[in-house]
Amino acid sequence: MSTTKKVLMLPGDGIGPEVMRQVQRVMDWMAKKRSVNFEITEGLIGGASIDAHKNPLTDETLADAMAADAVLLGAVGGPKWDDMPFDIKPERGLLKIRKEMGLFANLRPALVFDALVGASTLKEDVVKGLDIMILRELTGGIYFGQPRGIEERDGVRHGFNTLVYSEPEVERIARVAFDMAMKRDKRLCSVDKANVLESTVLWREVVERVAKDFPEVELSHMYVDNAAMQLVRNPKQFDVMVTTNMFGDILSDCAAMLTGSLGMLPSASLGAADANGARKALYEPVHGSAPDIAGQDIANPLATILSFAMMLRYSFDMGDDATLIEDAVQNVLKGGLRTADIMQPGMAKVSTTVMGESLISELDKLV
Ligand code: NAI
Ligand code: MG
Repeated sequence: MSTTKKVLMLPGDGIGPEVMRQVQRVMDWMAKKRSVNFEITEGLIGGASIDAHKNPLTDETLADAMAADAVLLGAVGGPKWDDMPFDIKPERGLLKIRKEMGLFANLRPALVFDALVGASTLKEDVVKGLDIMILRELTGGIYFGQPRGIEERDGVRHGFNTLVYSEPEVERIARVAFDMAMKRDKRLCSVDKANVLESTVLWREVVERVAKDFPEVELSHMYVDNAAMQLVRNPKQFDVMVTTNMFGDILSDCAAMLTGSLGMLPSASLGAADANGARKALYEPVHGSAPDIAGQDIANPLATILSFAMMLRYSFDMGDDATLIEDAVQNVLKGGLRTADIMQPGMAKVSTTVMGESLISELDKLV
């Protein structure tokens, strides 16, 4: 069996390249200490690609993404490109790559590291040990449904969008959710608004049908308004949650902030499985390009490093190595090191580079 993993790295803009350099360290370490062979290609996306090619995502980069086993992305955008026409803005590159790769399942973990429990605005006992996974459908629903627009009807302007899901669209995200639940705590909560929206009546029906193939998973359903309340009241009642594009957009940001630290949050977006069970996949931190701190070596690299750990777990079936990286992150934080964004009284403030180097030292101690 070949151990070569083809990874496309797209550092992007702002702090993207800075945090990506720290991931590179981790990849080098894995190659040396764990005999993992990464075949790394680097590419341009977003503003960096606009500067070079007047195009936020070239066909070459897209072809590299399609040929890779997994893509790791930093972040795109920044004030330099704010005045660009809408269809060649940096963010268009990101939307295009997600669409072309068919990434319909967005995985957003909300995990509270013990050492950072104080960073949450919620009480310690509510969030301590929190570890939930939100699955957001990413390519359907109201953000894409037709018809859409703003038009005048009988002299009055109307704005409208369409919330539509087909059975196959619901089924494929439901299958990812049940698979995920099987690998975790075997509990899945599907979030909808089936008391009001027919589209989510169908959603609930399809989820129920898929559930028959996963008898070990305990399935529950919740209306989205209640889910929002429960997420802040008692988030630990959840393990895996699955929901529509718009509900997931809102709930995943809400869940993310239970942890209180944007610089710590990874994400993954997965596409359909091929005949060998391999999925197209893109991994990226939840945060943006942070132009306010770019170039100062103070950004937190841990969100991108944790995104890389997700890559190991979900694209390469290397869950043990993913856990190793997550443990090293725990230990670096326990040791009192903090980048500025997660700084707490009595801790040691470190740069992006020192955080990356210290993580490698912790990895060394773990093996
Ligand atoms: P942002 O996430 O870039 O920054 C929000 C705040 O959090 C800033 O104060 C920033 O300094 C801080 N921050 C973010 N990541 C950090 C890290 N790793 N370490 C320390 N501090 C961190 O969001 P914002 O300011 O709304 O957007 C800035 C640019 O990024 C815009 O051009 C926006 O379009 C783009 N963006 C790109 C995303 C992506 O590539 N996926 C996602 C969100 C925004
Ligand atoms: Mg959002």
